[in-house]
Amino acid sequence: MNYGAMIETRKSVRAFQPEALPEKVLEQVRDYYENGCHRLVEGLGTRLLILDSSVKEALEGAAGYEKFMIGAPSYLVLLSQNGQYAEENAGFIMEDMLLKLTEMGLDSCWITFTDAAQVAKALNLQENGMQPAAIAAFGYGVRKFRKMRVNIRSMSNIDVKEEKQFYAPKLSVGELVHHKTWNSKEEMFEKLDFYDDALWRAFYAASLSPSYLNRQPYGFVLTPHKAVLVRCPDEYTGELDAKLGLGIVMLHFAGVMSAWGEKGWQMGSVEEDLDLPEGHTAVASIAIF
Ligand SMILES: Cc1cc2nc3c(=O)[nH]c(=O)nc-3n(C[C@H](O)[C@H](O)[C@H](O)COP(=O)(O)O)c2cc1C
Repeated sequence: MNYGAMIETRKSVRAFQPEALPEKVLEQVRDYYENGCHRLVEGLGTRLLILDSSVKEALEGAAGYEKFMIGAPSYLVLLSQNGQYAEENAGFIMEDMLLKLTEMGLDSCWITFTDAAQVAKALNLQENGMQPAAIAAFGYGVRKFRKMRVNIRSMSNIDVKEEKQFYAPKLSVGELVHHKTWNSKEEMFEKLDFYDDALWRAFYAASLSPSYLNRQPYGFVLTPHKAVLVRCPDEYTGELDAKLGLGIVMLHFAGVMSAWGEKGWQMGSVEEDLDLPEGHTAVASIAIF
């Protein structure tokens, strides 16, 4: 997959053509999950369910911004075993799936939830040892100028209704990336040049990551040999959405660098002193040459 191009193309779509998707299309989605999709944590059991339009009614009141469930012909529900970094892994996998959908000409939208047991009960899932870890709606978007968009007026006043189409503004590379220590930008752009375009493109892809309420509560510190992902505190983002968001941003970066498995993200803190402010934590790092 051309990750850079798919990352630039993907956007959240919240109004879908209602017709059920052809079985052939669903088969292709299933096949990518089984044979193509990348994982952040090897050996942690996951399962992908492809469910139909009845999910909207089932999850009404249990998922979505302000409990507004997006209607769609199909949904992806990723189940995961419990385990270390299970949520980041779920974010990584689901975002890879959504980029595949983008490549297939399908549209999608992440759907938030907080109570996995409530979601499992509402969907009548009896999966031993696995619970819902990520949900997304997908299908062919309604092709019209006015679309369902999230309107974040303030953090306590969020509408999901028909809005003029606009793209959610994202952090710039300059805002997202710091050099050697947090908040230092000294010689950062020279450094990005030195590593050729690839590193810049990876950070650009990371900057386009979707996140809960578009909050993007993370940043990077570029050290001589690594890029370190830092989680920032955010009072609006819950624990699951924060960790899914970290998985998403790691997938975007790794996708553009083609850095999977051993060459990919190493979870956990780093030895370097990054001079992080209170509440910020280094969560993972990746070698950059
Ligand atoms: C973990 C997560 C949960 C989300 N939950 C919802 C949701 O419940 N409803 C919704 O309309 N959008 C949801 N979104 C989509 C974000 O609002 C969207 O990604 C963000 O505003 C950026 O816009 P973009 O995806 O078009 O780039 C969610 C995104 C993430 C990553």
